Amino acid sequence: MTEPLILIEALSKRFQSGGGLFARPRAMMAVRDVSLSVGRGEVVGVVGESGCGKSTLARLVLRLIEPTAGTVRFDGTDLTGLPPAALRRMRRRMAMVFQDPYSSLDPRYTLTDVLSEPYRVQGEPLPTGRVAEMLGAVGLPEAMATSHPHQLSGGQRQRVGIARALALAPDFVVLDEPTASLDVSIQAQIIALLSDLRDRLGLTYLFISHDLGLVRYFCNRIVVMYLGAVVEVLPAATATPRHPYTQALIASGFVPDPAARRAIVPVAGEVPSPFNLPPGCAFAGRCPRATDQCRTTRPALSDEAHPVACFHPI
Ligand SMILES: Nc1ncnc2c1ncn2[C@@H]1O[C@H](COP(=O)(O)OP(=O)(O)O)[C@@H](O)[C@H]1O
Ligand SMILES: [Mg+2]
Repeated sequence: MTEPLILIEALSKRFQSGGGLFARPRAMMAVRDVSLSVGRGEVVGVVGESGCGKSTLARLVLRLIEPTAGTVRFDGTDLTGLPPAALRRMRRRMAMVFQDPYSSLDPRYTLTDVLSEPYRVQGEPLPTGRVAEMLGAVGLPEAMATSHPHQLSGGQRQRVGIARALALAPDFVVLDEPTASLDVSIQAQIIALLSDLRDRLGLTYLFISHDLGLVRYFCNRIVVMYLGAVVEVLPAATATPRHPYTQALIASGFVPDPAARRAIVPVAGEVPSPFNLPPGCAFAGRCPRATDQCRTTRPALSDEAHPVACFHPI
């Protein structure tokens, strides 16, 4: 078997925050011992509530931040040990699309500037006609090349964000909540575009979202995170969840109106502080199936076709 395009092993990230004259700095694990793989051409989803470590995982995978522990292999090469020049060459093959298309685009730039920036960073000349080609690929008119981001709608700006990510023809793209700040109708158009680009360009995606309904629609396999750790890997979008947390997410995830969806508290009970995690399962305090074992012992992700980190899976 050939190695998957992305192979993440036992990845952890610890953040230190606060601290001052009288306060001791506090440490928390934003990502805890995460292992996962993404095969070539696959779309793997990462889902979980806000603050569970999705963006931190995204940045670790592209080595935009350094891990506290663990490794990320890209096409057989360990990125964690790569010197800067080799990392820069490797970065050509990976890209990221961010949630907020506005804050990730420099307002002083024209779209030509935005789309030629990846070439500048790599120290490569911009091929003739490339800007028009990229705008065309994401469904924007060539005449927009001289526009500035503020002249565009939210959906158009995210199309620019996607074009910029694809400028250097990467193999792998991390999509970090790419539609979270868009209206539902625009969201559907962006998802359709991403799906079309994946087919045409043979891309591999890691698709991050807090919306399990959306992830189930778009992804081949789904990783569910809770407080920095993987609690379940759904082997197919249609798989029935086994973890009580994923079940609770599903129960709250199919309200079509995003405003109403946000109003729903997805799971009852209080989320423990990431600065002070309980000794057992992090979900035990909110879980209807929890027993004494769950409160004292941390369940590991099982080694099964449908892995779950739970002593009493469904
Ligand atoms: N640079 C940082 N310094 C300290 N804490 C951070 C930093 N980045 C993220 N965190 C914390 O790590 C946790 C996970 O954050 P994040 O990865 O952004 O979650 P998500 O993308 O799932 O909403 C949060 O508690 C957040 O406050
Ligand atoms: Mg995030």
